[in-house]
Amino acid sequence: MEERTYAMLKPDGVRKQLLDEVIKRFENADLKVSHVKEMVLDEEIVKQHYAHLLDKPFYPTLESFMLSGPVIAMIVEGDNAVSKVRELMGATDSKEALPGTIRGDYGDKTCCTYNIIHGSDSVHNAEVEIHRFYPELTKEKQKIR
Ligand code: TYD
Ligand code: MG
Repeated sequence: MEERTYAMLKPDGVRKQLLDEVIKRFENADLKVSHVKEMVLDEEIVKQHYAHLLDKPFYPTLESFMLSGPVIAMIVEGDNAVSKVRELMGATDSKEALPGTIRGDYGDKTCCTYNIIHGSDSVHNAEVEIHRFYPELTKEKQKIR
C-alpha cells in the first residue's frame, strides 16, 4: 500500500554524517525521500515525541541525547513505507540489530539510546509525527482548502 512515514536521523547519525547513506538505503528499497530538513529540537517536542517513554528510567538520558545536536527530519514515501523503513533501521537495541540494517551497521553497541535513526511504528503514528515535525505542511494544506 502506498504510504508515507516519518524518519529522523538522530544527533549521533548527524555527527556520523549518515544522511547520504540513509537516503541511498531508502532509495534502494524503492522509497522516495520527499522532504528533508535539519532541526534543533527543544525539550517540549522531545517530550511529545517520546511521551510513551516519559516514565522510564532512561528517559532523561534519551532526552539529553536528542537535544545534544541537530537532527534531520525526513518524510519517506512508497509502497509499505512504514514497515520498510522499520526493517531498514533494524532492532531498537543496536547490538541486536542485524548487520546490513542501519542500526546494526552504525549504532552504538554499548547502549540502545544511541541508535542513529527513528522511524514511525504505524501509519497512524506516521501522520501524527509528520504533523509534529512538519507543521508547515499541514498549514499549507489548510490554506488551499
Ligand atoms: P522505542 O519506541 O521503544 O524504540 P524504536 O525507536 O525502535 O521505535 O524507543 C524509542 C527510543 O528510546 C529508542 O530508539 C532508543 C530509546 N531507548 C533507550 O534509550 N533505552 C531503552 O531501554 C529503550 C527501550 C529505548
Ligand atoms: Mg518507537
